[in-house]
Amino acid sequence: MITAIASRVEVMKWMEDFVQEKMTEFLKSVEDSWQPQDLLPDARMENFFEEIKNLQERARDLSYDLLAVLVGDTITEEALPTYESWLMSIKDVPSNEDSPWMKWNRAWTAEENRHGDLLNKYLYLTGRINMREMEASTQYLIADGFDLQTDNDPYRAFVYTSFQETATNLSHRRVAQIAKKQGDGMLAKLCGYVASDEARHAKAYKAFVGKIFEADPNEMMLAFEDMMRKKIVMPAHYMRELGVDMGKTFGHFTDAAQRINVYTALDYTDILSDLVKEWKLEAVTGLNDAGERAREYLIALPDRLKRVAERMRAPQLEYKFRWID
Ligand SMILES: [Fe+2]
Ligand SMILES: [Fe+2]
Repeated sequence: MITAIASRVEVMKWMEDFVQEKMTEFLKSVEDSWQPQDLLPDARMENFFEEIKNLQERARDLSYDLLAVLVGDTITEEALPTYESWLMSIKDVPSNEDSPWMKWNRAWTAEENRHGDLLNKYLYLTGRINMREMEASTQYLIADGFDLQTDNDPYRAFVYTSFQETATNLSHRRVAQIAKKQGDGMLAKLCGYVASDEARHAKAYKAFVGKIFEADPNEMMLAFEDMMRKKIVMPAHYMRELGVDMGKTFGHFTDAAQRINVYTALDYTDILSDLVKEWKLEAVTGLNDAGERAREYLIALPDRLKRVAERMRAPQLEYKFRWID
């Protein structure tokens, strides 16, 4: 443990061994990883067309909202260049190539890169998606970037990634459950594989924040508070379609996700209370007055948000996405 009032640069440097350790624990080697091809028909095989036919039959009954959510999730995953460059640009993190932080960033990106590949190929094969429209949305999203309001601060950034990886785990898991109910076991399996990657990533980022709490509790508490006051935005909040203003498609995508219970305001609240427990906020010591107030705010926040979320109704407005004919 390092002594009081260490700078962020010192804390990040001090964490390098820990990050290395967590990387071996929570990321998989290439040899141990699944690849999209393990889960999709192999075009070299004689039965390829037969398998595509079966795939398309299974996908025929997927509901409109589920497909829309899946396209939105895929576009979000495919905007990975934005997330990688953001991670690489966070201040105060050692940026030499062989730093465990940079190794983490690269290995995390390498794992994530399989998600967009897998979902994109699956959607293409279903024959239900206007791929050109979807691809245009992806190009827009990468070009538009995002504004996560983390101020390039590592403490805020890792609150964000802890939250976000937990949210993606949950939403991919829910899509898997719904796909199964709608008769597409293959899609359920794909989403299950993606979800399990996200679960490992969430654990790692939560561990990073837990470690920062040991070294710099007051600043970490203030960073957590600041992120929750600003609210966690989704990485794809600028999502749009051709001919649609920046960010305007995003609301329709989240409406669909709420309607089919893939990701709701209650889930947001549950993730927050999970983080409050995970980081043992009640037991954190070494806080000044501002830190104590931040803790109080954070501990009370889940209940407050829950009351609001319970009054919210699932959005009814149906929207015709350009992605789906
Ligand atoms: Fe992912
Ligand atoms: Fe992820």
